[in-house]
Amino acid sequence: MNRRISDRISYVGVNDHHKVIFEGLWPLPFGVTYNSYLVRDEKTALIDTAEADFSREYLENIREAAEGRKIDYLIVNHMEPDHSSLMKEIREHYPDITIVTNAKAVPMISGYYGITDNIKVVKEGESLSLGSSELVFYMAPMVHWPETMVTYLKEEQTLFSGDAFGTFGAVDNGITDSDARLCGWLDASENCFAEFKDEMTRYYSNIVGKYGQTVQAALKKLSGLDIRRICSTHGPVWEQHVKDVVSYYDRLSRYEAEKGVCIAYASMYGNTAAAAKALAAELAGRGVKYSLHNLCTENVSYAYRDAFKYDTIAIGSPTYNNDIFPPAYSFMYGLCARLVKNRKFLAFGSFTWAGASVRLLNEMAQKQGFELISEGISFPQGYSQEKCDMASVADIIAGK
Ligand SMILES: Cc1cc2nc3c(=O)[nH]c(=O)nc-3n(C[C@H](O)[C@H](O)[C@H](O)COP(=O)(O)O)c2cc1C
Ligand SMILES: [Fe+2]
Ligand SMILES: [Fe+2]
Repeated sequence: MNRRISDRISYVGVNDHHKVIFEGLWPLPFGVTYNSYLVRDEKTALIDTAEADFSREYLENIREAAEGRKIDYLIVNHMEPDHSSLMKEIREHYPDITIVTNAKAVPMISGYYGITDNIKVVKEGESLSLGSSELVFYMAPMVHWPETMVTYLKEEQTLFSGDAFGTFGAVDNGITDSDARLCGWLDASENCFAEFKDEMTRYYSNIVGKYGQTVQAALKKLSGLDIRRICSTHGPVWEQHVKDVVSYYDRLSRYEAEKGVCIAYASMYGNTAAAAKALAAELAGRGVKYSLHNLCTENVSYAYRDAFKYDTIAIGSPTYNNDIFPPAYSFMYGLCARLVKNRKFLAFGSFTWAGASVRLLNEMAQKQGFELISEGISFPQGYSQEKCDMASVADIIAGK
């Protein structure tokens, strides 16, 4: 595979097809990449590193891309260990290397790796000459850690954006979006951005989702730059789809959504599940887009993805110890923690002797500023159309 992105820039990152759960929480059905880049000029600069398990492959990629030269700088945009954990190995291989980062990363570098020397601290807007080209640093705090910064290679209008504009999914066939394919994707008829869009949404909603406001601030700051290429730390290098990716991150961070319903339910004995499926059938009959998620059996990241994708969220929960059933509570709590806003909301669920879940879900939704599309449907014992009128709810959602 050609790892050369331009005369100056080579890709030195790795595909991870082995990790099952990212950050201890998120499944990786299509794998993930840890992207790192080498910029060659009179001086050479490595941008970020990779995950600890990949030291051999990663060092070999660097050795090849360096073409016999030493590495002068390691630019640290982000300290999360998926990108920083090979710093020590890099220093062992290239003892003269200078780490270039911002003041907030310095205690993290020492705390994680015990490294305190050969660190050059840069500030907002400061630049570093590599000879014929210059790297410029911009702080992007809380996208999604406090030390986050991005690095701009002026002469190539290239933004090394850290996790921003990143996506889950290992990259097959090539590095840039003109030939990269989502690993494991069978229908190769879509363009690269369309292929990765769902996994980008799942990455954003689960990992960055809470930080809409700071992503907006970063986008505003970067809007003055002429960006022709985005080299993020996860997924393809964006060249053809820079505009698509930037405007999609803009949409996501403003919590903008398309018309549709994310139905997420939890159920012990199938009664709330039957109501969820009835809602799905009524929506399908009216041509309303929806997705249906069983919170008891499915990883919750898919439901969060669709809560960011669709403008309506419907949560089904039985009453459990006079409360919301834990998997549904956990999902609702996560929506609130991610500061999701501008959504329409419906709660429904079965109880046996005294319903509480729908009332409590509605309370959380109202506190969050969601618009209740009805008072919710709390029904005793078994599901039936008479007790649980999903047709009327679907009419409201469809705007009938
Ligand atoms: C551990 C446990 C606690 C429950 N607590 C309540 C309760 O506080 N109030 C109530 O009305 N029903 C309670 N129920 C009954 C369920 O709400 C009822 O079985 C409901 O129909 C289950 O819906 P499902 O089929 O969607 O799981 C409880 C059930 C279990 C197993
Ligand atoms: Fe990160
Ligand atoms: Fe990351």
